[in-house]
Amino acid sequence: MEQIKTYIEKNRERFLEELFELIRIPSVSSSEAHQPEMLKAAEAVESALLKAGADKAEIKETTGHPVVYGEKLIDPALPTILVYGHYDVQPAEPLDLWNSPPFEPEIRDGKIYARGADDDKGQMYMHLKAFEFMVENGNLPCNVKFMIEGEEEIGSPSLKQFCAENRELLRSDVILISDTTMISLDIPSITTGLRGLSYLQVEVTGPNRDLHSGLYGGAVANPINVLSEMIAKLRDDKQRITISGFYDDVLIVSDEERKEMAKAPFDLKAYQDALDIETVSGEEGYSTTERTGIRPSLDVCGIWGGFTGEGAKTVLPSKAYAKISMRLVPNQDSKKVDQLFETYFKSLAPAGVKVKVTSLHGGQGYVAPIDTAAYQAASMAVEQTLGKKPVPSRSGGSIPIVADFEEVLGVKSILLGFGLESDAIHSPNENYPLENFFKGIETIPWFYKYFTELNS
Ligand code: BES
Ligand code: MN
Ligand code: MN
Repeated sequence: MEQIKTYIEKNRERFLEELFELIRIPSVSSSEAHQPEMLKAAEAVESALLKAGADKAEIKETTGHPVVYGEKLIDPALPTILVYGHYDVQPAEPLDLWNSPPFEPEIRDGKIYARGADDDKGQMYMHLKAFEFMVENGNLPCNVKFMIEGEEEIGSPSLKQFCAENRELLRSDVILISDTTMISLDIPSITTGLRGLSYLQVEVTGPNRDLHSGLYGGAVANPINVLSEMIAKLRDDKQRITISGFYDDVLIVSDEERKEMAKAPFDLKAYQDALDIETVSGEEGYSTTERTGIRPSLDVCGIWGGFTGEGAKTVLPSKAYAKISMRLVPNQDSKKVDQLFETYFKSLAPAGVKVKVTSLHGGQGYVAPIDTAAYQAASMAVEQTLGKKPVPSRSGGSIPIVADFEEVLGVKSILLGFGLESDAIHSPNENYPLENFFKGIETIPWFYKYFTELNS
């Protein structure tokens, strides 16, 4: 495995050029306008897999965007690693906030700037190149399968069914995923928890048409005023969520475990400075890392209605809308939370308005145990290439399909992410440091080696 370093040195430019080709395809899964690009991106991943040395790679139809499946099976007696990643990306808008076009990757200050540079094209590509190295050098130690999907950013609506229909094809000993962050290359960490998600849209309707705000103002319920008041009631002054029953299933983390978690270094000042905020804000009694790692949250992601054009139009709107996301912790069920939300939200509505609640997507959280061969192998691999033993850390983000993998395939996932919080995923100017990209490629073959050794 030692040769991986020289292999990377020799092939740096080519690796980047290949990744850039994939990034140039604007595979935004949520956008109607980008539908043709989705298949193009899937085809690019398929041919990249074949080029890297897969014996087989194919595009599998699903009820939504296709899955790219690939494999190299060398010996049924050896363990099998299933690599999961996604080729779809978030929309790049608002475009005017980017310093370079989102789908024309550019290297500045040692970072790749582009939509998908980190999430997840950059991180997924590390696996293809690490695999290429192992095949090329004849030291692939075990069987490998790849499942690269195109719907992660829209909640993987087709993938659970795809897994259920392809259990045998996807049979493996561990699922290896690079789609999360680490604290830094100097303080390496392995993600051991993901939050679940309930994402809903609410619609408040008042009068049957927009009204003159002078003729009617003060006499008719204004849905934007009402919606704002309802939203304000969703959290109390300690920033606890007020939805009845919301905390019933929340797992309380013991003081002992909290103490253990608090050992992971966290620089509050740097965190605030990076965001240009004077102070953080969240649930009373918990630290910032706890607020995202072990506690649920409720945020309005967008709110609209009425008149938002240029100048002033004196109007009392007929409708108001909001998108609301709740991040859940393990053991909370997103369908149950959807239900609790709807009942509670409707109970907040005053007479004179109608309320509609639509669930957009959701998923369960995940906790990765650290007493497994997979965690051990990941820890050893990271220590090998970054020189420090990684700390386990719970992330605030979600990859809902990870809980489904366990339920449907019966296999646990290992979240070996190389992104940084500063990579600005989902934001303008998403970026991925070259060093993280190459360190990722360097680390992956060691994971293969240690995982195989620990399983033989
Ligand atoms: N890769 C992210 C999730 C992530 C990022 C987890 C960093 C941990 C650390 C993933 O692509 C993502 O954005 N997930 C969505 C899920 C949603 C669209 C269902 C999320 O968390 O908002
Ligand atoms: Mn991702
Ligand atoms: Mn994402």
